[in-house]
Amino acid sequence: MAEKVVLAYSGGLDTSVCIGWIAEQTGAEVIAVAVDVGQDGEDLETIRKRALACGAVEAEVADARAEFADEYCVPALKANALYQDRYPLVSSLSRPTIVKHLVAAAEKHGATTVAHGCTGKGNDQVRFEVGIASLAPELKCIAPVRDYGMTRDKAIAFAEANGLPIETTKKNPYSIDQNLWGKAVETGFLEDIWNGPIEDLYSYTQNPATPREPDEVVITFTKGVPTAIDGKPVTPLEAIMELNARAGAQGVGRIDMVEDRLVGIKSREVYEAPGAIALITAHQELENVTVERELARFKRGVDQRWGELVYDGLWFSPLKRALDGFIDEANEHVSGDVRMTLQGGRAVVTGRRSGESLYDFNLATYDTGDVFDQSLAKGFIELFGLPSKIAAKRDLGK
Ligand code: ARG
Repeated sequence: MAEKVVLAYSGGLDTSVCIGWIAEQTGAEVIAVAVDVGQDGEDLETIRKRALACGAVEAEVADARAEFADEYCVPALKANALYQDRYPLVSSLSRPTIVKHLVAAAEKHGATTVAHGCTGKGNDQVRFEVGIASLAPELKCIAPVRDYGMTRDKAIAFAEANGLPIETTKKNPYSIDQNLWGKAVETGFLEDIWNGPIEDLYSYTQNPATPREPDEVVITFTKGVPTAIDGKPVTPLEAIMELNARAGAQGVGRIDMVEDRLVGIKSREVYEAPGAIALITAHQELENVTVERELARFKRGVDQRWGELVYDGLWFSPLKRALDGFIDEANEHVSGDVRMTLQGGRAVVTGRRSGESLYDFNLATYDTGDVFDQSLAKGFIELFGLPSKIAAKRDLGK
């Protein structure tokens, strides 16, 4: 009996060619698995039929949008996850979601191997293969583009020679990955890092420079999870979709950056993540109101480490799991409302209220009603500054 390979299938040229290419190189039967993480393209049934037409023995599609929102985007939000302080981990979050579905399909069909369409230069190959190794160490991984020399020119020639039902003429100079949490664009003229991005690259956001009326939104969080928008209850999936539309219409969440890939290369990326940026901005501010100072300070370091682990493909690692425990605990009291104005490419917080607030008006006020005993400050500073004073005596000779 022929071995079976489960292929992460997108419906595009590369993974469509991978089906026949793998069969030719290995003699295996290929099972195509397409996972909907909110990438907003063709419908899944069209993609499924194409996989079969390209030679897959079976093709499966999964609507993983709610799962992606609940189990991947929400933890990223609780961690305020921004790699290098800017990138909301768009592709890094979808890979472990897809990995889960690939492993389940491999088990169901008795496959020995999992395949993906990544090159050998990016982070995504690491995320797929380390993810597979963590969930199903017995499975082998292959990447035809990287391992079997499947260049783009060869892929086009293969598609044409085999009459595959896939467009090979439309030349898209970019490498694009998108999902519910945002969109990533790289390569093409962007590889010259002095070249500015052009309006054409963007599809989640309108031009922030276009004058338009502001949009005011109130986001309600319950233990760090968005649960209502403008008072209307929403699921995380609905919250992200609504904010992608509303923040996107105001040009929020465009990011142009050079980042450090795990494989050691610096690369130029243009991202859009309107919903993610609006949500993280609101969530961070609610943490400022509800999380105790020492916990908040410590959490900033944890958040950053969490983002690096996820970026580096360690979603299923013990450290990431342990940090999740800390982050969930730290979000226990992150409940309440944040009001924001969306306009001109920015999401600006203008109000916050919470039953779990640690903001005490009577301690903070400079007006009547002040209950803060200022006379205590003098002695506090005396002791707090004592080590500095003693060191100064030694170091400055005073
Ligand atoms: N640089 C980003 C990351 O590593 C995005 C990768 C997007 N992938 C792509 N095929 N364009 O997470």
